[in-house]
Amino acid sequence: MPRPLLEVQNLTMKFGSLVANDDVSFVVNEGEIVSLIGPNGAGKTTLFNCISGFYKPFSGKVIFDGKDITGKSTHQITSMGLTRTFQIVKPLKDMTVKENVLTGAFLHANSKREAENLTDQVLRMTHLWDKKDMLAGSLTIADKKRLEVARMLATKPKMIMLDEAMAGLNKTEIKEAMELCVNLNKNGMTLLIVEHVMEAIMPISNRVVVLNAGRKIAEGSPQQIINNEEVIKAYLGERYYAKSRQINGGI
Ligand SMILES: Nc1ncnc2c1ncn2[C@@H]1O[C@H](COP(=O)(O)OP(=O)(O)OP(=O)(O)O)[C@@H](O)[C@H]1O
Ligand SMILES: [Mg+2]
Repeated sequence: MPRPLLEVQNLTMKFGSLVANDDVSFVVNEGEIVSLIGPNGAGKTTLFNCISGFYKPFSGKVIFDGKDITGKSTHQITSMGLTRTFQIVKPLKDMTVKENVLTGAFLHANSKREAENLTDQVLRMTHLWDKKDMLAGSLTIADKKRLEVARMLATKPKMIMLDEAMAGLNKTEIKEAMELCVNLNKNGMTLLIVEHVMEAIMPISNRVVVLNAGRKIAEGSPQQIINNEEVIKAYLGERYYAKSRQINGGI
C-alpha cells in the first residue's frame, strides 16, 4: 500500500480578490516522483509557498508525514524533512559554494565535523566538488541551480520540492538534472517537481498533477496526462500532443 507523505487538502490561497489556488487537493506518496505542471500563472509557485510555510493558506490543510503543518514556519517544516528550491535562485552570493551548503548541513548535524562530511558528500553528488571554494555569486546559472539543490539536500530531507530547477539549462545540464532526480529517488527520496520542460519530467514522473488558473484540472500517469483533452487545450497544446504521440512508446 502506498503511504501518503504529503497531503494537500482543499487548499485555497487568495491575494485580494485573486484566487491563486482554488480548492486544490492531491497526495504525494512516499517514494514517488510527482510533477506539478500548468501554464504561467496557474498557481504552482504559490502552492509551493503554501506547502513550505512561506504563505499561510486562506483555507485548507497541508499534512506532511502524518502531521498537520498548515501555517507552520518554514524552519519548522524544513526540520521535519520537507524542503524546496526557489524559482529564482537565491544563493548566499558572498559565501563560497561549500559555506552555502554548510549552512544547510548544520540543521541536523551534531558537530562541525558531521556537517562538513555531509557537505562534502552532497557537493560530490551534485557535481560541485571542483567549485567548492568559488564564491556562489560567481557561478553560472546551471551551477547556481545545482547549489540550490545541494543546500536543500544538506538538510537531509525526506521530500524535496523543485520549482523550475531545469529552466535556463542546456540539454546536457537538463539530462544531468534528471539523472540527479532519478538517483535521489532510487535512494529513497520523494520528489514534487514543478517544471515546464515536459520532455525532461514526463519520463521520470510516476504521476502528474495539472493546475490551470488555480484549479486542479487533471491528475494521472504521464501517459494519461499527455492524452487528456483539457490539459492539451489549457497547456500542452496541439504541437506537444502530436509530438507525444510519436514518443508515447518511450514514456
Ligand atoms: N505575492 C503575490 N501577490 C499577488 N499576486 C500574486 C503573488 N504571487 C503570485 N501572485 C499571482 O498568483 C497567480 C499565480 O502565480 P504563481 O507564481 O503561483 O504561478 P506559477 O504557476 O508559478 O507561474 P509560472 O509558471 O510563471 O512560474 C498569478 O496570477 C500571480 O500574478
Ligand atoms: Mg512559478
